[in-house]
Amino acid sequence: MNKQWLLARTPPEGLPTDDDFTWVETPIPEPGPNQILTRTIYLSLDPYQWGRRRSGVEEPGEVCHGRTASQVVKSNMAEYQDGDFVFNTNGWQEYGLSGEGMSVFGYMFPRKINPAEAPISTAVGVMGMLGLTAYSGMYLQCEPKAGETVVVSAASGGVGQIAGQIAKILGCRVVGIAGIQEKCDFVTGVLGFDACVSHHSETLPEDLRAACPSGIDAYFENVGGKVFDAVLPLLNRQSRISLCGLIAHYSSAVMDQARDHWAALGQPTFERQNVQVHNLVVREFVPDYQARFLDEMGAWIREGKIKYKEDLWPGLEQAPKAFQAMMEGGNFGKTLVGVGDDPTLDDALKARRAGTDVLGALA
Ligand SMILES: NC(=O)c1ccc[n+]([C@@H]2O[C@H](COP(=O)([O-])OP(=O)(O)OC[C@H]3O[C@@H](n4cnc5c(N)ncnc54)[C@H](OP(=O)(O)O)[C@@H]3O)[C@@H](O)[C@H]2O)c1
Repeated sequence: MNKQWLLARTPPEGLPTDDDFTWVETPIPEPGPNQILTRTIYLSLDPYQWGRRRSGVEEPGEVCHGRTASQVVKSNMAEYQDGDFVFNTNGWQEYGLSGEGMSVFGYMFPRKINPAEAPISTAVGVMGMLGLTAYSGMYLQCEPKAGETVVVSAASGGVGQIAGQIAKILGCRVVGIAGIQEKCDFVTGVLGFDACVSHHSETLPEDLRAACPSGIDAYFENVGGKVFDAVLPLLNRQSRISLCGLIAHYSSAVMDQARDHWAALGQPTFERQNVQVHNLVVREFVPDYQARFLDEMGAWIREGKIKYKEDLWPGLEQAPKAFQAMMEGGNFGKTLVGVGDDPTLDDALKARRAGTDVLGALA
């Protein structure tokens, strides 16, 4: 049988709860012509999934959407052999079909993963859309120059940790904004940011000003809300913003207008300071930049210039709990659910993963 989490309802305003998800078991499907059946190994949990659910893109009764690293179990496509590892979108379930008629976000044909190049979990992380998001927003949109001050919000999270390290590679002074002290310590101590301030601090605006004595030249926006309020007065002339996400607004009644509200709030400063604002939609960068990104990111990882932390929740049963935690800042690094056995793990990685739900895949 195939274990699945379905969306139980179109969620109301607020954070995810157990009432939003239903556990079912259905027969494992048979692949049709030009389709493959894969078993999910790693499921990526991402804040955008909450937006899809709340806005009705995902409908009640559907398997919850999610990108996955999977293994081919049965192939009716010449390009894929049984046992191949692929990046696809199985969603919150143990087994899924890919190929003809299964297009989700345009990934009708799964991308093969070579386990010799990197741990396969990174295909839904630093070597996947998450890494490309950080690369596109920081490198291509913010274009930070050596010596400039760059600020990254949700700095210890999946995207933020990579975005900030790219700015470090480019020679910038990098300041993170994160939640608890343990995350701030990781951001400076392990990832090598120059400073990190907590958005829980009652003196966030002053703390950020002290960490950015020359103002802010580039801002990678993941959050919005009071974090953006603190950033705004510090933006230098001709600074750049990549508007990646606004997680502080994803649970609000006006989620759909969050980007408009954010822009309206910033507009006077943007005009006065001649700030360039770039809306980031990672899918738009796939056709032209995916190959270059994989080359460059792969090299940075091999050279030890990019470290990467995963927060792995073992067992598909835990998906709603892990998702709720991520939306509330209870994750530490890129949030993943370990759905099925990963036969590519070597002893070193296995040892790192033993007995803990917070892992460093490459850190
Ligand atoms: N534009 C695109 O194409 C694109 C693609 C991928 C992701 N994104 C966006 O990128 C952002 C980061 O995604 P991710 O997958 O890397 O998630 P993540 O950062 O791993 O997890 C979310 C983090 O957001 C922080 N957070 C949650 N609520 C907050 C609040 N009210 N105020 C301040 N911080 C809050 C928490 O960190 P702390 O504990 O540190 O507060 C939490 O750990 C999201 O906004 C997402 O929508 C956009």
